[in-house]
Amino acid sequence: MASKRFVGTIAILAFVLAAVAMATKFAVGDDQGWTINFDYEAWVKDKIFHVGDELVFNYTAGWHNVFKVNGTAFTNCTIPPTNEALSTGNEVITLAAHGRK
Ligand SMILES: *[C@@H]1O[C@H](CO)[C@@H](O)[C@H](O)[C@H]1NC(C)=O
Ligand SMILES: *[C@@H]1O[C@H](CO)[C@@H](O)[C@H](O)[C@H]1NC(C)=O
Ligand SMILES: *[C@@H]1O[C@H](CO)[C@@H](O)[C@H](O)[C@H]1NC(C)=O
Repeated sequence: MASKRFVGTIAILAFVLAAVAMATKFAVGDDQGWTINFDYEAWVKDKIFHVGDELVFNYTAGWHNVFKVNGTAFTNCTIPPTNEALSTGNEVITLAAHGRK
């Protein structure tokens, strides 16, 4: 009985550089967290991500979720199967390799 409830799609596209640097933890959306009616393009615009950095997606579980995709799937707007959604409300994603995410 898969629930197809779909609140909305919000997305960020991060370009991860392969440079060696101190790992940084980014709270996505800063104090707003992962939500709707927030400009993630503006949030991400001036940020530089490196391999080893962490993205923290903080939101109320059940209201939103997180899908990990590559740059191709992102620009293609391909949403992975629902069972690949991260939905705990506090996802910490380590950027393990360079590329578009
Ligand atoms: C997550 O968001 C809630 C509500 O906005 C906030 O109270 C909490 O401190 C945040 N947690 C983290 C780890 O950022
Ligand atoms: C991006 O992800 C899609 C779907 O998982 C996969 O088919 C494709 O090969 C990936 N492309 C790259 C460049 O990794
Ligand atoms: C791009 O979109 C097409 C059509 O929706 C889909 O068949 C294909 O798998 C997508 N490719 C990627 C890499 O997401």
